[in-house]
Amino acid sequence: MRILVLGGTAWLGGLIAAGALERGHEVTCVARGEAGEVPAGTRFVGADREQDDALAAVSRERWDAVVDVARQPGQVRRAVRDLEPVAGRFVFVSSCSAYASQAELGADEDAALLPALVADRMASPEDYGSAKAACEAAVLGAFGRERSFIVRPGLLGGPGDPSGRTDYWPWRFAHPAEQGRILVPDAPDLPTAVLDVRDLVAWMLRAIEDGLSGVCNAQGRPEAFPAHLAAARVAAGSDALPIPAPEAWLQEHGVAEWAGPRSLPLWLVDRDWYGMNARSIDRALAGGLELRPLVDTLRDALAHRESLEPSALRDRAGLADADESGLLAALEERARD
Ligand SMILES: NC(=O)c1ccc[n+]([C@@H]2O[C@H](COP(=O)([O-])OP(=O)(O)OC[C@H]3O[C@@H](n4cnc5c(N)ncnc54)[C@H](OP(=O)(O)O)[C@@H]3O)[C@@H](O)[C@H]2O)c1
Repeated sequence: MRILVLGGTAWLGGLIAAGALERGHEVTCVARGEAGEVPAGTRFVGADREQDDALAAVSRERWDAVVDVARQPGQVRRAVRDLEPVAGRFVFVSSCSAYASQAELGADEDAALLPALVADRMASPEDYGSAKAACEAAVLGAFGRERSFIVRPGLLGGPGDPSGRTDYWPWRFAHPAEQGRILVPDAPDLPTAVLDVRDLVAWMLRAIEDGLSGVCNAQGRPEAFPAHLAAARVAAGSDALPIPAPEAWLQEHGVAEWAGPRSLPLWLVDRDWYGMNARSIDRALAGGLELRPLVDTLRDALAHRESLEPSALRDRAGLADADESGLLAALEERARD
């Protein structure tokens, strides 16, 4: 097949391009080249998709499938306008963030989406979900349901996760700041569902080859947070013990949720967000999504993190050693009082 990847210089798009090439397809990637390089063996077309005519060159060729990872509605609106006449199918990587509510557990693809962003560009990261909803609407409007495939991933993980959200826990178990003890949020019912990026890519490529259409959630197997930590401990081959800290206490000490510096990754306080990582993936499973065991994902994510230079680990999710030690000491003191 002739596959056009809009993206291909970053994590997921790069893996899709590399995977498609490995499966014998002819792959062209369109990006600025700022995020990185495209995989060797794929054709690179440099373009800034903020320009109206960015896709002029590739819209003079025919494509069996286009894969787009964009998040700016204007980029997707222009892509479907220019490529609908020359492309068989349009595959869009959306996000579970496009849903209007993240409260319900087990919600399927029929759940309501956020209102679609009218503007061509997000004004702030808070617009991400409605921007993805707008991108989806543009794809469906131009290609229709039969010629489009929209994937709504939840949290992606595995080797190369640039956010560090999925390699933090196995890394922390492998390198406790304090002998034998790891600070964790006390969140026994918090759902987690890390989808190995390699499983997503393998499934998307098979879906493209088989001409799958429609809209599908894609998440990992649901695990409560303590089970996720247990898998991280096994992945690290560690005997360190998780020391649960009350959520309110962590908040008082300025520890952030979910991601970013000084965070405890994957932790969510607001129960109205518990559904985000607990969506129905029945449709994707019926469509051939195969999930590897979580411990394999976490072991490979850890190995990848260990291979990185320290400079590449700046600004990643998690607590630095000194913070972790200080917080564990403060928690012990609190228990003594
Ligand atoms: N990580 C998660 O847990 C998660 C969860 C749900 C959904 N997702 C979705 O998964 C996808 C991740 O994709 P990714 O890792 O490949 O990419 P990404 O980090 O979102 O990067 C975006 C890609 O688009 C290109 N791009 C950005 N601005 C551009 C412009 N003005 N002109 C041309 N190209 C431009 C970038 O290349 P250049 O900078 O080189 O131009 C890059 O290749 C996204 O769609 C994201 O929304 C992720």
